[in-house]
Amino acid sequence: MSIKYLHLSITTAVMALILASCSPDPLSPGVEYMPDMYRSPAAEPYSKLPTDSLFSNSMEARLPVDGSITRGYLPYGIPNNVEGYEMAGELLKNPYPMSDEIVAEGKVIYTKFCVHCHGKEGNGDGLTVTAGGHPPPPAYTSAALKNLPAGKMFHTITYGKNLMGSHASQLNNEERWKVIRYVQTLQGNDMAMDGKESIEEESTGSMTSEEVMDETTMNN
Ligand code: HEC
Repeated sequence: MSIKYLHLSITTAVMALILASCSPDPLSPGVEYMPDMYRSPAAEPYSKLPTDSLFSNSMEARLPVDGSITRGYLPYGIPNNVEGYEMAGELLKNPYPMSDEIVAEGKVIYTKFCVHCHGKEGNGDGLTVTAGGHPPPPAYTSAALKNLPAGKMFHTITYGKNLMGSHASQLNNEERWKVIRYVQTLQGNDMAMDGKESIEEESTGSMTSEEVMDETTMNN
């Protein structure tokens, strides 16, 4: 046999082998060399397991155990009701000082999440109001809000209040406290504080816990 025919028969054999390893199914890779190298015996995430698998619903990804807490998020234990709102006003203190740095961070958050309703200066004249016809939020310097305790602000940002939605999914606890510092500068409540959480003590509009108790008993 000449060398030419030898070449030809080797080429034909190789071609035949390649063709034989193909599959008509376009999604199948055909015959695989050591398939374990491609497909591990472990279940892929979100793949459907055989119904007789370990898990009754045959879903490979498991739901978190009840009571699991997302990493980086602390649960907010105060309930979403009037009593909770009052409680927040008394118990919660801003962990951040009134410093230039914190206020600057708060401003960034405010500009992203709040300005379109509350307006640049917090006067309740954001674009949703002036251009969108949204009912205006009260100005931060209004009699009702001027001395609002930081804890109540935190409660409102967390749960929302009437037309203001909850921002709990947008802002973590730290971001809520930082934006509160910025809101307080818009209220003009940043002067005497310099690092000390003194607004609650100074405010005349908020009640002491005894007064809250009296008020609740009177209403009952
Ligand atoms: C969709 C528009 C909207 C957005 C966005 C919004 N607010 Fe409000 N906000 C309101 C309205 C309306 C009220 C008045 C709620 C009421 O008392 O009925 C309010 C009330 C408040 C109050 C007073 C809360 C109280 O307890 O009385 C604070 C503080 C406040 N907002 C801060 C913020 C901050 C900070 C952000 C951004 C993280 C924000 N708001 C985003 C509409 C909005």
